[in-house]
Amino acid sequence: MRKSLGERADVAVVGGGVAGLAAARELARRGLSVVVVEENRTGAASRAAAGMLAPQAEADGADELFELLCASREMYTDFVAALGEESGVRVEIDKAGTLYLALDERDEEEAERRFAWQSRAGLAVERLTADEARRVEPNVTPGVRVALRFPRDWQVESRRLVVALDAAAERLGVRIVRAVEALGVRVVGERAAGVVTSEGELEAGAVLFAAGTWTSRLRKFVGGDVENLNDDPQVEPVRGQILCYRQPEGQPPLFRHVVYGPRGYVVPRRGGRLLAGSTTEPGLYDCRVTEEGARSIAARAAELAPAVAALEVEDSWAGLRPRAADGLPVLGESADVPGLFYATGFYRNGILLAPAAGEIVADLLTNGATRLGTDALKAFSPERFHTAAAPPHLLAPQGR
Ligand code: GLY
Repeated sequence: MRKSLGERADVAVVGGGVAGLAAARELARRGLSVVVVEENRTGAASRAAAGMLAPQAEADGADELFELLCASREMYTDFVAALGEESGVRVEIDKAGTLYLALDERDEEEAERRFAWQSRAGLAVERLTADEARRVEPNVTPGVRVALRFPRDWQVESRRLVVALDAAAERLGVRIVRAVEALGVRVVGERAAGVVTSEGELEAGAVLFAAGTWTSRLRKFVGGDVENLNDDPQVEPVRGQILCYRQPEGQPPLFRHVVYGPRGYVVPRRGGRLLAGSTTEPGLYDCRVTEEGARSIAARAAELAPAVAALEVEDSWAGLRPRAADGLPVLGESADVPGLFYATGFYRNGILLAPAAGEIVADLLTNGATRLGTDALKAFSPERFHTAAAPPHLLAPQGR
């Protein structure tokens, strides 16, 4: 007889990152029994994130991703308020906004285009001259040519968010099985029926794959008809390094806004910390900070604000962003295995997407439809990776 990891759950979630936890929490709020299997620490990538809730700062048009990011931002205030009540952990959104700096002619043209389409679309965006930008944030570089202020592009303390989500999920009855490795999805007939783990099997009515960077490595199937399982989103890690500066005690913070530029960003945190990011290094399952990475982040932060160069670096870390083959989120039910859902590939927007992803997954699992509309989600469906024939390597288990 196979060893069991406990009672059958309505939903088994592979991965305790913000996507998995947000979905687990929302499913539990709707009365479903949920087990999350997490091999390491919950929210490992999110604890490394700078926490920007900023769909507008980088957007050059209103595509499906932009709409989804904005819908999630709309949900954020209520989301963190509810999390605070459920978990007892206060998570604040810093609503000072984001200031986007154009530093050369090309940046300026890009900023003008962004301002034009976003103001035409009725989005909250202000165009500031160099003087105005420096009045709003006196420590930004005198080299600023023009700036855009996005009053609704906010930021959240991502570590507190993870702690709150973890605690809220548990208080709502989610069982988080920690330090246990997911080895495969149990398939019975053609349907996902549970998860095989290093500690035994977990039977479930449905499985949510929310394993972030590890999605494609963990995506293995046990039993059932596995001949044509070929909708692998090919999620790969993209390392992002962060430097954490310490501002001298007793001095006012250097910035109120998140200061964003085409080559980097700085994010002021409470208590005198200032985060600067980031690198974009694909293909590495390696969370180390490198000398080269730190040097380039420091140079780009100083480009935005020379005063940063005088600050002490208190800490540094790196996280792995999960990027699917086309860079878009993967949200929805598998084309091959009914009962297998994905919430992964959130790439640069994992923190921002947490509330929308939680709601969408819970809607799909409980109603088969979401308030956002099925058409809006087509671009994110795992079906887009479906190929006519399964590449042979997908049928062989890969080592982690
Ligand atoms: N969301 C910011 C980053 O991924 O660097």
